[in-house]
Amino acid sequence: MTGKLVKSLLCISTVALLLAGCGKSEEVGGTIPPQPVARERASSEAAAPAAEEKKEEAAPAAEAPKAEEPAPAASGGGNVGVSMPTKDLQRWNQDGINIRDQLQEAGYEVDLQFASNDVQTQIAQIENMINNGCGCLVVAAIDSESLGDVLGKAKSAGISVISYDRLIMGTDAVTYYATFDNYKVGTVQGTYVKDTLDLDNADGPFNIEFTAGDPGDNNAGFFFNGAYDVLKPYIDEGKLVVKSGEQTFEAVATAAWASETAQARAEKILTANYSGEDLDVWLCSNDSTAFGVENALEAVYKGKYPIVTGQDCDVANVKNMLAGKQAMSVFKDTRTLASKTVEMVDAIMKGSEAPINDTKTYDNGTGVIPSFLCDPVFADANNYKALLIDSGYYSEGDLQ
Ligand code: BGC
Repeated sequence: MTGKLVKSLLCISTVALLLAGCGKSEEVGGTIPPQPVARERASSEAAAPAAEEKKEEAAPAAEAPKAEEPAPAASGGGNVGVSMPTKDLQRWNQDGINIRDQLQEAGYEVDLQFASNDVQTQIAQIENMINNGCGCLVVAAIDSESLGDVLGKAKSAGISVISYDRLIMGTDAVTYYATFDNYKVGTVQGTYVKDTLDLDNADGPFNIEFTAGDPGDNNAGFFFNGAYDVLKPYIDEGKLVVKSGEQTFEAVATAAWASETAQARAEKILTANYSGEDLDVWLCSNDSTAFGVENALEAVYKGKYPIVTGQDCDVANVKNMLAGKQAMSVFKDTRTLASKTVEMVDAIMKGSEAPINDTKTYDNGTGVIPSFLCDPVFADANNYKALLIDSGYYSEGDLQ
């Protein structure tokens, strides 16, 4: 499967690229104010994996680089609830703030909440949005399977639901799905490894290990399968060798995408298998897990530095990329996804058809959810300037 999307990646919208965390009160009950605030850890975030905190610390200052083009013309009206999983990973801050700002520019009121990676908190926040009379919900689920009941209430109240980035499973309350082409994210990673090692021509064998994401996140399997499908023929012919023997999604998954969990597993594997031998590749599904693997490599591995893949272009990982500790990261421009989501919301609120480009791929157990799939690309030390700096996604200063 691949998305048919031909959308330009670097486009759109006057958005404030804010990586700032916000205060505790905003986390659990209130709505984030429109202005950037100083980055501050919410002390109520005990449920969040500690390792992801490292990523948040590494987020750039609350500058607001402007993208080139304007957001959709102001035309809306009404209230939109936006439910994000956590502030502890850089991207969800960007996603939430990009959506909020673009919706506000289009004339909507926005209730943006982050749920501290706690399912019950997310359910309570969504319930609150429904009770407050929102006309549409945008939800990035913590756990793909846990929102059926609360979204059933939304459906009964006539509220449309956009499943954002992660598909919400097992409920017919989901109206649309806006995401990046998740399988393609994995394909891009696998292809990067294939091309870099020149697997079709090189003799090998090369050693490879895998780290995937949270089994509760419907995306995680797509990422892993996309990469594995590219590399499987070379594993089958013995050109790629997985010395740990761990190569099913279940064996390599990482609960909550936590860096520390990925690091602990990587240290075990490195110590057991790569004390006297080189590892050539560590295929990681995203940046938080790659960050853990990079820490493990630093802590217990002495051999030739392997190719490490990632996803999200988190600041800490782009810095590692520039320092030679991570080869690539799949770039998913959160401004683009936010902008597409705002178009969907606008269409829903006006009672018209939302833009979609995929009606085959994402069945949530109640049928295929009409989707818009944005296009991911890889970033590495050679192209990061054009992708990340020239587009205004980061400033040079953010990466120092
Ligand atoms: C997102 C990734 C992210 C991961 C961990 C996935 O659902 O698509 O971009 O790295 O969650 O938050």
